[in-house]
Amino acid sequence: MIYLKRPQEIDRMAEGGRVLAAVMEEVHREIRPGVTPQQLDTLARRAIRARRALPAQLGYRSYPASICVSPNEIVVHGIPDDRRLLEGDVVSIDFAVIYEGYYVDMARTYPVGKVADEAIRLIEGTREAFAQGFSAARAGNRVGDISHAIEEYLAAHGLYPVREFIGHGIGRSFHEEPDVPNVGEKGRGAPLRPGLTLAIEPMVTVREPRVEILEDGWTATTGEGNLAAHYENTVAITEGDPLCLTAGAEH
Ligand code: MF3
Ligand code: CO
Repeated sequence: MIYLKRPQEIDRMAEGGRVLAAVMEEVHREIRPGVTPQQLDTLARRAIRARRALPAQLGYRSYPASICVSPNEIVVHGIPDDRRLLEGDVVSIDFAVIYEGYYVDMARTYPVGKVADEAIRLIEGTREAFAQGFSAARAGNRVGDISHAIEEYLAAHGLYPVREFIGHGIGRSFHEEPDVPNVGEKGRGAPLRPGLTLAIEPMVTVREPRVEILEDGWTATTGEGNLAAHYENTVAITEGDPLCLTAGAEH
């Protein structure tokens, strides 16, 4: 069942979203050659708690950390370890927090030092694919309009959506209906109504992806040399323009 939020609930999610975006920025500032994913996880966990929020991922389906840290060809769900990030890597940071009982979710991919042109193209294309989906997130449209906008943008720019993972409703729980795939058909799927809150999250690679899950049961990889990126915000459908709850002006 699809759960529409009242304006007061959206306000709380927006507050949680500001907390989440601020912690993301704290993590971002520490990303440099030599830092370890575990150091980023520790920093994030403390920063989340210092802002009176809870790390939603810690213990979720036995996930062992507060954030996902996914370097290079890891698409999502990288478990923070003690291998140092290197100059030229890209690294995706994905996490959710619970704030006053409400969940918000966000992901970004950052360059580590100076990176190849292909990595920049991937990161920027993934952000723009989100922006296209966001623009379609309007009352009167359907979920398929969001999915289609993302798919179409990526296809036109030589980038590839990862189909195994999808966006989702969010708010009272981490994952709510409806599913928000990154490929789809215009005019299909659940209608978008004011009060619907969604995590829109394209996961993208530079070549046709073949996803494998590693032995840890979490780490999703596309294999050596096929870089992946992830861009996610929690978004609210309104009577007018959509609201981005997890970021400022850039979305
Ligand atoms: N934030 C991700 C999502 O969109 C990751 C959830 S899996 C976890 O659902 F175990 F890592 F939390
Ligand atoms: Co999500």
